[in-house]
Amino acid sequence: HMVDTFDYVVFGATGDLTMRKLLPALYHRFRDGQIPEDSRVIGTSRSRLSHDEFRDRAEKALRRFVKDDSLDENTVQRFLGMVFFASVNGAEAESTWDNLRELFGDDRADVVRVFYFATSPELYGAICKNLHDNGLVTEKTRVVLEKPIGHDLESARKVNDEVGAYFEENKVFRIDHYLGKETVQNLIALRFANPVFERLWDSDAIEHVQITAAETVGVEGRGDYYDHSGALRDMIQNHLLQVLCLVAMEPPGSLDADDLRNEKLKVLRALKPIREEDVPNVAVRGQYGRGKIGKEIVPAYLEELGDGKQSDTETFVAIRAEVHSWRWGKVPFYLRSGKRLPNKVSEIVVQFRETPWSIFKSKLEANRLIIRLQPEEGIQLSVMNKVPGGDGMELRPANINVSFEQAFGARYPDAYERLLMDTVRGDPVLFMRRDEVEAAWTWVEPILNAWKKNCSPVHHYPAGSWGPDAARKLLAVTRNAWHEDMA
Ligand code: BG6
Repeated sequence: HMVDTFDYVVFGATGDLTMRKLLPALYHRFRDGQIPEDSRVIGTSRSRLSHDEFRDRAEKALRRFVKDDSLDENTVQRFLGMVFFASVNGAEAESTWDNLRELFGDDRADVVRVFYFATSPELYGAICKNLHDNGLVTEKTRVVLEKPIGHDLESARKVNDEVGAYFEENKVFRIDHYLGKETVQNLIALRFANPVFERLWDSDAIEHVQITAAETVGVEGRGDYYDHSGALRDMIQNHLLQVLCLVAMEPPGSLDADDLRNEKLKVLRALKPIREEDVPNVAVRGQYGRGKIGKEIVPAYLEELGDGKQSDTETFVAIRAEVHSWRWGKVPFYLRSGKRLPNKVSEIVVQFRETPWSIFKSKLEANRLIIRLQPEEGIQLSVMNKVPGGDGMELRPANINVSFEQAFGARYPDAYERLLMDTVRGDPVLFMRRDEVEAAWTWVEPILNAWKKNCSPVHHYPAGSWGPDAARKLLAVTRNAWHEDMA
C-alpha cells in the first residue's frame, strides 16, 4: 500500500542505526512501490555535510546493508534523489536550526512530517522544544523515539515528560524493533487464530516458558553506549519483556492500538515484583571472556572495551519471572539474553506438563512448543510416537515442523520497514505507550539497584558458551533445563 507523501527527518543521521537500518528500510519500501517519489528523507546531525556528501554516505550504506538482489541501479539513484541533509545541533536553540527550517516552505505544510530521534535520549526533550520554537511542528507531525528511553525509571519519566510537553501521546512513537518482526506479530495470530493452542495456554497445561535472544556478536564498536547500558537495559527491559507480554497477555478486545497495549500493560503490572534481596536467587548476570565462536578466536569484553578499562557491565542476563494472574499462577517465565553465545537465535520455548499417568514402559517426554523468531522462522511441536516395527510399544519423541519460509516462500522484511511505514501512517499499534515503558522500568529497576550494590557476582563465561553455569542452576532448582541442554 502506498503511503502519503512524507518528509522523514532523522536526528543522528550519520550514526550506525541510520546507515544500517533506517536508510535500507526506506529504500526497500521505496523499491516495493510504497513511497511516493516526492517524499524526502532528511538527515541531520552536527556534522557539516553537503546534501551530496550525505548522499554518498547513504549510497555506501545501501551497498553495504541491502542485499545485492534488491539493489537496482535506477532505483538507488531515484532514492538518493530524495535524500537531503541539514547540519543541526539538536540541543542548541540557536543558529543551526535555520539549516533545517530552510528545507520547509509553506508548500510542505500539509505533508506528513516525521522526526526520528536516533540520538542520545538526553537530547530528546531539547529537540522537541527546538522543533516547536522553530515552527516546525505541523498538524501532521509525529516523533519517533529510539531506545533507550532513559536508563532507569526516573530518567525515562523525565524523557517522557519533556517530549510530552510538546507532543500528545498519540503523536509519540516509541520504537521497539522486536514488535516489527513478522514472527513476533505472528505470536498474536498463533495464539488467537488457533484455538488448539489457546485452550492450553495456562498454568494447567504449561509447566514453564523460556524466552531467549542469543547473539554471537560482541559489542564491537558500540562499547561506549553498551558499557553504560548492559544486557538488562539493552535487551530485557524492552525486547524480551515485549515478547513476554505477547506470550502472556489475555486476548485483547480488538487489534486497536490501545486494546492491545492495555493487555500488554496488564502483564507488565502483573509481573511479580523482584525485591533487591531476591535478586541473587532469580537473576544471573555474566560477562564474556575470551573464547571461540565457531573457529574464530574472539576477544574478551574487557579487551574490546580497550584502554585497560575495568567494568562490571553484564553482557548476559538470565531471569526467572512470574506473571501473577489467574491464567499463569506460578508458572516460571525464564528470560535470557546474551552476546557472544554460540548461535544467533531468538526463540520461545513453551514446555507443557507431563502426562498425569503413563501406561507405557518408555519414558515420556512432555510436549514442547518452540516458536522460532529468528533465524529459520517457524514453529515446532514435539510429540511422542510409537517407534515403527517391534512387537512392543516403544515410544520416542518426534517433531511437527512448520518452516515459514517453506510455507510462504516470502522475504522476511527487516523489522524497521514495517515500523517506519507505520509512523508515516500514524498507526501506533506496534509501538510502546508511555505507561508500558515505565512499567517495564519499574520491574527491572530493583535488579539494576542490586547489581549496582554488588549483591551478586558478575559471572564470567567464555565467548562461544551458553553463558555462566549460574544460569543453568537458575532452572535446575525447578528440575528444568534450558532448551539446548534438554534431552
Ligand atoms: C538492539 C540492541 O536493540 O537489538 C543490540 O541494542 C542488539 O545490542 C539488537 O544486537 C538485536 O536485534 P536483532 O534484531 O538482531 O535480534
